[in-house]
Amino acid sequence: MTTMQGSQTRPPSRAKYLRDNGMSQACKDLLSSLPSEEDWVAASLCPCQGFWFPSPLLSGIPACQNHFQAHTSDILLVSNPKSDTTWLKAILFALLNCAKYSKSDSQQCHPLLTQNPHDLMPFLELCVEQENPDFAAFASPWLFATHLPYSSLPQSVRDSECKLVYLCRNPKDTFVSLWHFFDKLSPEKGQIPLPDCLDNFCRGMSFYGPYWDHVLGYHRTSSEMPEKVLFMMYEEMKEGPHSHVWRLADFMGCPFSEEELRDGTVAGILRMCSFDNLSALEVNKSGKLSTGQENKLFFRRGEVGDWVNHMSAEMGEKIDGVMEEKLRGSGLKL
Ligand code: A3P
Repeated sequence: MTTMQGSQTRPPSRAKYLRDNGMSQACKDLLSSLPSEEDWVAASLCPCQGFWFPSPLLSGIPACQNHFQAHTSDILLVSNPKSDTTWLKAILFALLNCAKYSKSDSQQCHPLLTQNPHDLMPFLELCVEQENPDFAAFASPWLFATHLPYSSLPQSVRDSECKLVYLCRNPKDTFVSLWHFFDKLSPEKGQIPLPDCLDNFCRGMSFYGPYWDHVLGYHRTSSEMPEKVLFMMYEEMKEGPHSHVWRLADFMGCPFSEEELRDGTVAGILRMCSFDNLSALEVNKSGKLSTGQENKLFFRRGEVGDWVNHMSAEMGEKIDGVMEEKLRGSGLKL
């Protein structure tokens, strides 16, 4: 495999997730002019560019739209929040660095052993805190993640030949994971009943929602430009992880060599990135992200179909009904 990238240079500091300190005056003015709704989650959401964005991020979104210059060799991982981004971030990082850490002595200093995947692969819209961020501070080629919808991506990302990997997860599991995450993230708000949250989700109001419009934007682009967007389903990855890691490597232009296919490289990557391995690491049990959140919040159960433990069949049918209606004619079934 061709190694494309070393460990990323960490940006000096990041905007605080979900908090509005550090927001520019221009952004505060913009915010006060927009209708916002107190969501069931930790921050108010603002409708902007056809989606619901967390209001504290509204400064980061125009900043990266205006200033981020994508390069042909860049790779962006895109997902709806709580689609198992943490897992795929770890896999992408391990994949792109596997030649560097293949020997047993170098394996022990693998960055994933001491850093959370989110710190190794920052979110584009979270890593900017000024209106004119210095992206040159990052190592090139860039490996970024984003939750931005396709239509809100920086123009240079859409125009350049950089590649996008989109991860989609079953909406019922995504919703339940989201509910748990924000419940733990802001316990001071008290637990908001899940049915109330479900109503919001089903009317499109969730982080970077409507969920279905987010998925459809990338699904459509992937059908039109398969060389640009690789559309992946979390549930399919869980079922056949080896073949999906091969697929990822091929898509990114760094296919495995015959030797790597024989010597267990893929199995090693999957072992390193497994839920059991990552969640048991000290850094993920007691560490914090550079954005301030506790790393352990990103590891709950990581199971397919966990929604049945938290929602009634009727609630599940409510999400299914909305998805069926919204995805009709797209060729996509969730
Ligand atoms: P659950 O809440 O269903 O357990 P994101 O990474 O997009 O924030 O999504 C978080 C979800 O990914 C959580 O799902 C979490 O447990 C799961 N997850 C995190 N790391 C994982 C891993 N290495 N393998 C599988 N699932 C993982």
